[in-house]
Amino acid sequence: MAVLDKEELAVLKAVADELPEFSRTPSQLIPVLQSIQKKHGYLPKLVLRLVADHLQVTIARIYGVATFYNQFRFNPPGRNPIKVCLGTACHVKGGEIILENFERRLQIREGETSADREYSLERVACIGCCALAPAVVIGEKVEAYVTPSKVEGIITEIEVRKEMAAREQQRNETAASTNE
Ligand code: FES
Repeated sequence: MAVLDKEELAVLKAVADELPEFSRTPSQLIPVLQSIQKKHGYLPKLVLRLVADHLQVTIARIYGVATFYNQFRFNPPGRNPIKVCLGTACHVKGGEIILENFERRLQIREGETSADREYSLERVACIGCCALAPAVVIGEKVEAYVTPSKVEGIITEIEVRKEMAAREQQRNETAASTNE
């Protein structure tokens, strides 16, 4: 948690520097939120207070707008962002069950990021490949016809890749230290 707080403070400082670029009017709310989301990947809670003061709007109004558009998120994205499609086709083919499986496997709820920042989970509207329903996007990659056992396979694959990268890094560090 301390790591997230530190990061949140860094974002807060950056946003405080960026806000004067926007005029102090409520009509700037969406452009300001989009700019923060684009640069920092999410809207930290502390930052919303800053935005409210600058644009002279209430926090409730900001939450109302930010929760209406699903492009905005309130938690930092994980290194492996998982987006479960719950558009009509995916919903009909069991998208909710897939979302539940990810929640159970990762021990986080939709809209959250795991404490180690490895995973974030969210539901999204149609991603445009309904013929592959139920579909999930992991990072940039679309996973088709996802089943509960495939959820397990997806996470295992990520974990294996992570372990291999850690070993590779360790090998490189060992090689570098023996060459010194
Ligand atoms: S509804 Fe999921 S891809 Fe269209």
